[in-house]
Amino acid sequence: MQSRDLKKLIIFYSFEGNTKFIAEGIKDIAGADLLELKPKKDVNTKGFMKYVWGGTQVIMGKKPELESFDKNPDNYDILFIGTPIWASRYAPAINSFIHKESIKGKKIVLFCCHAGGGNGKAFSTLKEQLKDNDVIGSIEFQNPLKNGKDEAAARLEKWVKEIL
Ligand SMILES: Cc1cc2nc3c(=O)[nH]c(=O)nc-3n(C[C@H](O)[C@H](O)[C@H](O)COP(=O)(O)O)c2cc1C
Repeated sequence: MQSRDLKKLIIFYSFEGNTKFIAEGIKDIAGADLLELKPKKDVNTKGFMKYVWGGTQVIMGKKPELESFDKNPDNYDILFIGTPIWASRYAPAINSFIHKESIKGKKIVLFCCHAGGGNGKAFSTLKEQLKDNDVIGSIEFQNPLKNGKDEAAARLEKWVKEIL
């Protein structure tokens, strides 16, 4: 079966909208379903304290409780997993998700948004955590909402079409 005929789910967390922008772009290009992860208790400041709060959560390996969701990853063949980079790692909500769900035998595509530090350890750690799957691609964007949405959207479209 062609990858484009497989069932696709985009699982993502976004605090300030960049990762959400990319996730919605993938949805439009690939015809995938969307699952936005929402911690019941999330960062509640946009100021400097967000780095302290969020960074601490990541470094302590927190797995915040998530709002319930109605999409079951078992029902999909390809999972796109997207995260902002926090303290050079993936966001706590993604940590919650991959430990809650038993993800095996899927094709996985990773995407992330960062502020210039690259994906850090996020992709390599996710690949380790998801080792019972086949990671078929990854892409990262530097704050696409600030640095040019059109350019990011064009790069995204080209990449998604190459992967599928
Ligand atoms: C708690 C916290 C930690 C962050 N740590 C990093 C980092 O280590 N490296 C980096 O390049 N950007 C870092 N950022 C910036 C975000 O990764 C970046 O702005 C991203 O585009 C935000 O995605 P979002 O809008 O989907 O939340 C951090 C942001 C927050 C809130």
